[in-house]
Amino acid sequence: MERVEHEIARMIQEIDYDEVNHLLEMLNSGKRLRAKLILKIASSDERAPLLAAIVELIHSASLLHDDVIDESNTRRGVASVNATDGSKIAVMLGDILYSKAFSELVSFDRDIAKVIASSVTALSKGEMQDVKLAEEFNSDEDKYLDMLYFKTATLIEASAIAAALLVGKDIQKYGLYGRNLGLSFQIIDDILDITSDDSTLGKPSMNDFVEGKCTLPYIYLYQDLNDSDKKRLVSLHAKSITKEDSLWIKEKMEENESVERAFKLAHELSHEAMEAVQDDDALVSILETMIKRSY
Ligand code: FPP
Ligand code: MG
Repeated sequence: MERVEHEIARMIQEIDYDEVNHLLEMLNSGKRLRAKLILKIASSDERAPLLAAIVELIHSASLLHDDVIDESNTRRGVASVNATDGSKIAVMLGDILYSKAFSELVSFDRDIAKVIASSVTALSKGEMQDVKLAEEFNSDEDKYLDMLYFKTATLIEASAIAAALLVGKDIQKYGLYGRNLGLSFQIIDDILDITSDDSTLGKPSMNDFVEGKCTLPYIYLYQDLNDSDKKRLVSLHAKSITKEDSLWIKEKMEENESVERAFKLAHELSHEAMEAVQDDDALVSILETMIKRSY
């Protein structure tokens, strides 16, 4: 990971703009899940840290844009760039980071460059689906999972496939692992938005629903409620929520085991991913750590 950080620092240095250095110093770099995944799959290749650094820059760019779209004031426990410096700066900083990442990506083999580049189109499509779905209360599980695949899983899947291509490993197997890791990671993230407190999250709890996002526990809850409770839930969608209403949602979720149902799906996806890479302890342990995060 030291080499990954070194590559990221070099690329930022080459952008050669103090404003960019200053803004990036203020940010929290996060878990670097995608970089760790690439290093674990392609540890024998000396270009793996550069590939990992490229993917992390793309991911950071997508989060800068996402916070503008979601009007989020915090990211990873610190103020977001749109909150401190405005949306124009946040969008352009994102543009600078992902175009820099792309100019480095072209130095890789065509199939590797193509899989990463295509995943950025897919994640942008997923973000647009997310915005569209949030316009109304969505109770369609398939639509939700489709959006999740594009928005979160495609870059993780592409990272795994690109790393496998770099060292000549089975792309089917690692692709399945990356896809399911991405899906179950996001489902657990959605669960934590409901079950964690504000200080652990670094943002207000149940913020997804306030932003209009009906994540899996809300979809499952809706399916199980009677007609009048369905109406009450829909009436609370995409509005700031009172303590009383948030307690009501949590109580109903507990009664109907909505969070448990979502967790069960995350668990099944993780299990399938573990089976695909059972001979690789490091990859299995990434999944185990992620599942533990949800307790
Ligand atoms: C976070 O979702 C958002 C993403 C994982 C993807 C965002 C993608 C784009 C904005 C497309 C543009 C891409 C580039 C490279 C510029 P979330 O809002 O559910 O999660 P959060 O709680 O972390 O904000
Ligand atoms: Mg967001």
